Amino acid sequence: MARRMFVAGNWKMHGTRADVGQITAISIDCETLKQTDVALCVPSTLITRAVAAAPGFTIGAQDVHHESKGAFTGSVSAEMVRDAGAKLTIVGHSERREGLGETNEDVRAKAELAINMGMRVILCVGESLKVRETGQALRHVEEQLKASLPDMVTAPLHLSIAYEPIWAIGTGKVAEVGDIAAMHNRIRNALEQTYGEGHSSIRILYGGSVKGSNAREIFTTEGVDGALVGGASLTAEDFMPIVEAAE
Ligand code: G3P
Repeated sequence: MARRMFVAGNWKMHGTRADVGQITAISIDCETLKQTDVALCVPSTLITRAVAAAPGFTIGAQDVHHESKGAFTGSVSAEMVRDAGAKLTIVGHSERREGLGETNEDVRAKAELAINMGMRVILCVGESLKVRETGQALRHVEEQLKASLPDMVTAPLHLSIAYEPIWAIGTGKVAEVGDIAAMHNRIRNALEQTYGEGHSSIRILYGGSVKGSNAREIFTTEGVDGALVGGASLTAEDFMPIVEAAE
């Protein structure tokens, strides 16, 4: 099936109110947005302002807590980011799995909470350089994915998967297109095993040093339905060429 391409930006820990103002400068016209689904995941402090600044974008969060509420100082819940205007959240980014010890079970709980709140979810998976170099990447990512997927029949209607090789994030090193195609195929098979025919509505994004210069090659790689973009999403000048390459 032909899936509408999905390009999401992940600002990570970047951005001020002034930066949000430049989103409106992104000349994404209505025609582009009819053809390509575009999202921007900003720090939770900027969600409300981003929603007002970019009516054509889906504004998302970068994480939600795995509990719905409670004594979790500094955390934000799915309900809170939805209340701020977010329609989507990333869960399971490697910077949280590796950096903050998030488990597959945490990621599954986050995804289920967000979907129950009516939000869309981008669920991230990916392997380390060591796993890649020892030839274990396909098995590792399949296991990580299956242990992280929300156990809900309705999940496919809300879920996208982002395959982000950890060694490609922020490094300028993009995975070989053959490896991207092989991994996306493995992920697609795992989604079909988990959700049956419903898998077909789930888009599989690639993330890891996507730039305007390599986006078209990545988007024309078999099994790629879009991108999750970090550094190159921070400015209109860098982000627009990627969005336009997805058309
Ligand atoms: O979530 C997207 C991010 O991890 C990719 O970062 O800077 O390599 O595009 P970057």
